[in-house]
Amino acid sequence: MRKKIVAGNWKMNKNLQEGIELAKELNEALAAEKPNCDVVICTPFIHLAKVSDIINHEVIGLGAENCADKEKGAFTGEVSAEMVKSTGAEYVILGHSERREYYNETPEILKEKVLLALANGLKVIFCIGESLEQREANQQNEVVKAELEGSVFNLSEEQFANIVIAYEPIWAIGTGKTATSDQAEEIHAYIRSVIADKYGKEVAENTSILYGGSCKASNAPELFAKPDIDGGLIGGASLKCADFKGIIDAWK
Ligand code: PGA
Repeated sequence: MRKKIVAGNWKMNKNLQEGIELAKELNEALAAEKPNCDVVICTPFIHLAKVSDIINHEVIGLGAENCADKEKGAFTGEVSAEMVKSTGAEYVILGHSERREYYNETPEILKEKVLLALANGLKVIFCIGESLEQREANQQNEVVKAELEGSVFNLSEEQFANIVIAYEPIWAIGTGKTATSDQAEEIHAYIRSVIADKYGKEVAENTSILYGGSCKASNAPELFAKPDIDGGLIGGASLKCADFKGIIDAWK
């Protein structure tokens, strides 16, 4: 059975003290009431080591929001997958549309990052999703398929078992505009079928596919009720414990 996952993506928010506060609050809230899903928080690099010491890793997984496409060496300002792993983190988000768009991360660069993350024992939350223009031209299926083919379909079946997919329509990220649950389900089912064509039905059935884009406590229950939506990747609503917990509780 594939995992149900609610993952937070803090993006470039929270200084160290604020991040520690939030992690503590969430850790306490989930210790008091065990979640019915896997919970992951993905934080800026600077928070990872401290947050790792605070959280109970049996209840909350920890992830980075990025890692380098090089193993090590003279790459000033970069943080390697090995460094991320050494903080106690178990996950890394790769392929987020903000990284693709603002930092020119190409499919080839992402392919390298994915390989390095997996080689260092990290699980990858790999983001895919179309722009508004592409959705209006009804190209969403081609776009997500190409994104999978470009960066993760080179993996062996064994490696692919460590990939979580996050479908995030760019037009829904941070806009307050959520895909309807039917729209999301339709493309999630399509993504699963593409994975099945590549790796077989069993692998596809075992792959968690998360929805991201203005997901909040009010719309999470309807989204998560769909058969091919296995949870969410949450930006804005992961920045307050009560909001994030509200989404986690959608699995109750
Ligand atoms: P949002 O972001 O929940 O703020 O829309 C989601 C994401 O970008 O991962």
